[in-house]
Amino acid sequence: MPTICIAVPLEPRYEVLVGRGLLAETASRSAHYSARALLSDTHVAPLYAGALGLPEATRAHLLTPGESSKNLDELERTLEFMARTGLDRSACLLLLGGGVVGDLGGLAAALYMRGIDFVQLPTTLLAQVDSSVGGKTAVNLAAGKNLAGVFRQPALVLADTGTLATLDAEEYRSGLGEVLKTALVAGEALLARLESARAELAARDPDLLAEVVAECVRTKAAIVARDPTEKGERAKLNLGHTFAHAIERVAGYGAIPHGVAVGTGLALALRLSERLQIVREPALRARVEALLAAFGIPTTLAALRTRYHAQLEPSELVRSMRLDKKSVAGRPRFVLPRAVGELALGIELEDSALETVLEAA
Ligand code: NAD
Ligand code: GLY
Repeated sequence: MPTICIAVPLEPRYEVLVGRGLLAETASRSAHYSARALLSDTHVAPLYAGALGLPEATRAHLLTPGESSKNLDELERTLEFMARTGLDRSACLLLLGGGVVGDLGGLAAALYMRGIDFVQLPTTLLAQVDSSVGGKTAVNLAAGKNLAGVFRQPALVLADTGTLATLDAEEYRSGLGEVLKTALVAGEALLARLESARAELAARDPDLLAEVVAECVRTKAAIVARDPTEKGERAKLNLGHTFAHAIERVAGYGAIPHGVAVGTGLALALRLSERLQIVREPALRARVEALLAAFGIPTTLAALRTRYHAQLEPSELVRSMRLDKKSVAGRPRFVLPRAVGELALGIELEDSALETVLEAA
């Protein structure tokens, strides 16, 4: 399948290229910068840094893999690395890895000398369909997920779908959680495509993956272009996330992959939507739960607790939701499905009603 190019029509405009073998274009597409440095993690760098074709002398800083690295200490170490490397304001930081490298590295690039360019080289399905596009950068605080961050768009995204072959089953599953979220935002065509292509998705069929990644990027790029800083419509992309962020925090960051928590969060959002009589399609929860089951993502809190040996007490989850970035005056706000591709934004409810839904799940 030829490379697919999706433009994100912001000012400045940037491109997201999707296809196999794209990492090999990194060196030529970043040759115009005064200097380049690489941020990756100790798992991804040995697999893919060599494919970038960078000069041997290119300096690299490697994080310990996983969510536990997405913190202020690692951010400071990355900034010190950039300074030691002598990057100037015309230099560029190359971010090779999943959403942790992309989120922390994007924030480091945004802060360093008040902002230098960065190129996203996403190597997980989650990062290719979601986190590498749209300019949300952040690290976690003890008080909550992604609480310290800024919006800053990448200069370029090269999503090499060939890298998805080496993802372990759990990380691939996590990406599928965000793919399913995007389908519920995008509409019937993508949801039906996922349903009809379950077997090819499970087999990581390369052409199907490129098609699905590109469709998710198109969906996200269009929303981000209309609402880059989440003043309104972009909140749609947070479907399932109020639940997911609380689940991740209460379980301990890294214990449950982000996209798996989002997947379970989608099922919980549908339960809540049914209880509040917001959803209009009676079969929607069954369709979503069937896809989650096919992907191996728990559809209930009870199943999530068992799989990950996590407590996930409803009262703890509600307490954590109050700290979510989307909360207003301590009240969590939800994005809830009305139908495929149609979402209700900014739904608030009493803690007791929320706990009732969580206790039943
Ligand atoms: P991750 O970055 O922790 O990567 C998961 C694991 O996969 C790591 O151990 C990594 O070393 C390994 N890995 C990466 N690529 C690989 C490959 N090709 N082959 C083998 N192993 C590989 O996790 P993630 O799921 O990519 O990202 C999760 C993070 O993204 C969370 O912190 C979440 O909050 C964030 N996120 C951000 C946005 C956004 O808009 N900025 C959107 C969604 C999620
Ligand atoms: N992942 C949600 C967003 O980028 O807005």
